[in-house]
Amino acid sequence: QESPRIYTREEVRSHSSPETRIWVTLGSEVFDVTEFVDLHPGGPSKLMLAAGGPLEPFWALYAVHNQSHVREILAQYKIGELSPEDKVPSTLKTSDPYADDPIRHPALKVNSQRPFNAEPPSELLTENYITPNPIFFTRNHLPVPNLDPETYRLHVVGPPGGQSLSLSLDDLYQFPKHEITVTLQCAGNRRSEMTQFKEVRGLEWSTGAISTAHWAGARLCDVLAQAGHQLCETEAHVCFEGLDSDPTGTAYGASIPLARAMDPEAEVLLAYEMNGQPLPRDHGFPVRVVVPGVVGARHVKWLGKLSVEPEESYSHWQRRDYKGFSPSVDWDTVDFDSAPSIQELPVQSAITEPKDGETVESGEVTVKGYAWSGGGRAVIRVDVSLDGGLTWQVAELDEEEQRPRKAWAWRLWQLQAPVPAGKKELNIVCKAVDDSYNVQPDTVAPIWNLRGVLSNAWHRVHVHVHA
Ligand code: HEM
Ligand code: MTE
Repeated sequence: QESPRIYTREEVRSHSSPETRIWVTLGSEVFDVTEFVDLHPGGPSKLMLAAGGPLEPFWALYAVHNQSHVREILAQYKIGELSPEDKVPSTLKTSDPYADDPIRHPALKVNSQRPFNAEPPSELLTENYITPNPIFFTRNHLPVPNLDPETYRLHVVGPPGGQSLSLSLDDLYQFPKHEITVTLQCAGNRRSEMTQFKEVRGLEWSTGAISTAHWAGARLCDVLAQAGHQLCETEAHVCFEGLDSDPTGTAYGASIPLARAMDPEAEVLLAYEMNGQPLPRDHGFPVRVVVPGVVGARHVKWLGKLSVEPEESYSHWQRRDYKGFSPSVDWDTVDFDSAPSIQELPVQSAITEPKDGETVESGEVTVKGYAWSGGGRAVIRVDVSLDGGLTWQVAELDEEEQRPRKAWAWRLWQLQAPVPAGKKELNIVCKAVDDSYNVQPDTVAPIWNLRGVLSNAWHRVHVHVHA
């Protein structure tokens, strides 16, 4: 019997396109699945996400693969084994402040490695109403702290003359457990479309800086009440500080108005669970703030301290970032103090299928995507055009429940429509309407801003039609 051929991870990685052939690994086995890609019941584009690497992280998301007939199919394509030293991950360098960052899911499209910023690919983004934890978009400004749940304490500064609290995880579990499904969106979602129009400063997010989870934790209003805080007539803000910090010791920070924090209907959480699991490290283990309907930047992760102050947080991310400006403002003229910090986000929608540049079959086309609005405003309609916005059809919204004034989570939608006869290409467009009848602007130009935030123009995808 012949001994199996031995390959390194490096070699496997170099086989990730049809030109070089498509290899994947499972355990220590190496497979050439080039001939199977077009036969994959889940579609070629999903299989291609694993090209050149291990299948395990993807199959962990889709349990359909835990069946013997799937293993048998794969077995036909075996070409060899991984070299023994490649079965264990290579050790990390210790001088690097990011060396202790967690291992991430390979499906994530990485926009920056240090700090880690990544989004799920559009093929997977709307595959599930609830985004699986391993592919939830990640937006870090600093290295991920490694916190011990036993010694973790949340410092809650008391009111003047009152008492401060130091809460352990067990203390937080004693508050009534509150659970809600909330979509988190970064202010920079879809920034790359603004960049295409005119350069901006910021990470190149595509349409995936948005994800949805079922969160559980203590309500912020309950914790504030226990510390003796009350709603006051004068302006006040709840300031949050993360336990992640830069080499100078500056921590991530942000704030929200006290009125929102104290409003039980606003459902602001100190979350310790995400989709039934302890928070993953990238998403704030052991405790993060979840502020439904509000921009991601205020959902402070690795929460270490909260206090009530007469002014907004002095953090860079509250005062010198995450604000919107006129297209006429540039880096020489910008006055950050002149604009309010972003809190509730405007109405948003995007197409996740088909992808820009793809070729679709003639006959019928399926268009899929997401829609969401800030402030608990429900999405009431999504319109889709196949001709660049000349004519429109109404998409079908998914069945998920939307509570009035508390529609914290996105709606997935789809439209199945005949491809107009003789068309060689389609300019697919989507736009959403929320229950205040807010709509999305049709182009980027009038909402362009130097930081590339609040990018919510009609989403456009250009596809070819198979002859
Ligand atoms: C479905 C095989 C890679 C996502 C399936 C099925 C098979 C299969 C046989 C049908 C299972 C059934 O219904 O009984 C394979 C093989 C792969 C591979 C041999 C690698 C060579 C992947 C990857 C992903 C993926 C990398 C994802 C990111 C899916 C999905 C379905 C599916 C979502 C379900 C489709 C549906 O519900 O209609 N796969 N798969 N697969 N696969 Fe894969
Ligand atoms: N909290 C801390 N402590 N540090 C951070 O870098 N990033 C913020 C927010 N909370 C951040 C943070 C930003 S800008 C966003 S969009 C969300 O976390 C992203 O949350 P996620 O990584 O769980 O998706």
